[in-house]
Amino acid sequence: MAVKVLRLLALLCVAFGFAAAGSYEGYKLYEVATETIAQRNALHALAQEAGDKYDFLSLSRVHTQKARVLVPPAHDESFRTELRNKQIQFELKNPNFGRTIQAEVLQNRMLRQAKPYSGTGRLGTERYYSHEEINNYLNDLAARYPTRVFVRVVGKSYEGRLLQTITITNGDGITGKNVIFMDGAFHAREWISPATVVYAIGELVENFEANAELLQDYDWVIMPVVNADGYEYTQWSSATRLWRKTRQPVTVNGVTCYGTDPNRNFGFHWMGKGASSNPCSDIYAGPSAFSEPETAVVRDVMHTLRGRGIMYLTIHSFGYALFYPWGWGPELPETWEDLHEVAMVGADAIREYSGTEYEVGSSTALYGEAAGASDDYAFSDGFALSYTMELPDGGDSGFDPPPSEIDRLVKETWTGIRAMGKRVTTKYPSPVTKTLS
Ligand code: ARG
Ligand code: ZN
Repeated sequence: MAVKVLRLLALLCVAFGFAAAGSYEGYKLYEVATETIAQRNALHALAQEAGDKYDFLSLSRVHTQKARVLVPPAHDESFRTELRNKQIQFELKNPNFGRTIQAEVLQNRMLRQAKPYSGTGRLGTERYYSHEEINNYLNDLAARYPTRVFVRVVGKSYEGRLLQTITITNGDGITGKNVIFMDGAFHAREWISPATVVYAIGELVENFEANAELLQDYDWVIMPVVNADGYEYTQWSSATRLWRKTRQPVTVNGVTCYGTDPNRNFGFHWMGKGASSNPCSDIYAGPSAFSEPETAVVRDVMHTLRGRGIMYLTIHSFGYALFYPWGWGPELPETWEDLHEVAMVGADAIREYSGTEYEVGSSTALYGEAAGASDDYAFSDGFALSYTMELPDGGDSGFDPPPSEIDRLVKETWTGIRAMGKRVTTKYPSPVTKTLS
């Protein structure tokens, strides 16, 4: 099957930008269009040279895709001049991004205060939830469905938050089934990720009858919030809303910067292409592989699933894409056709459901190299299938789907995940299993 011609690919995670936490008051949000490869190269060069002045929120390899750049007031004039000199077109999308993001953060806080989670019952889709609320929901499920659901504390974040997984079964007591492992909130600002994972948990547990097929021969292990510290940090204020990394500080030559990119911190081709050794960078790979407790926990969960873990699915935003390995370099795994086939099942299901188009291909082909990511690690560690799913964008930054959009997005995404899950259970049947007596 010919891989589709690279179409518009919205690009999600920062390419070169420097992690900033300050007020965005007066920041201008630009969309930058490039028509030629030369222009795109010039834009990449600018992102690399001046990534500390301008925050590239998205920058695709695909030169037809618009980039989003946040520019502080002090650098606005130079930004415009540089682009004009390079004859690159730009459009001012928001003259004061700070005001917009402040209103969004306030709205989220107000919605949370108006209707705090009581600690029992399904989490709705009308707002975003805190890490603690999500943990409470998992514990509530464990209490309400004691034969089907098992919640484990698998570790602690750097700041001491409890990291939990939920194992979802059909309650038949059969052990040793194959497993689908899904996680969310690797990147702190990608709020639609944990929202989607929480919805998936709700469907598998509370809408069990409709999804019984998915649990007949498989168990699901789900970790909705990996980067708990980062995720909470983004809830504080508009100045921290776009935080991406973990929160463990690192001091090099007397300079302290916070956080490591958890998706560059895995011990497979660690510190390879697309990762930074600068602790202040948004794509800093960390002082060593698995330096972050959060990524070590994900690794350990993967290890406990050895021999049973068939599909790993990590939910990010934004990019309308299903990436499969490899992401550390241009090679394709021998089994890439299997990876492609199952991802296409998801992409097709979503298109049929809502018309939303996802790109399917290797990370490197669609996004560019980014070594040390969890998907490559899972695949190298024995998962037959491993994907990074980049959800749709929303709001001005792309990371801010308004609360009114959550319901539509999580349902659409679940349609794709469910279709992939169904295909996996038939394509990779569980071995003959035994009942505990
Ligand atoms: N947006 C993701 C990131 O930058 C993409 C990762 C894709 N996977 C990979 N192995 N490169 O973390
Ligand atoms: Zn991400």
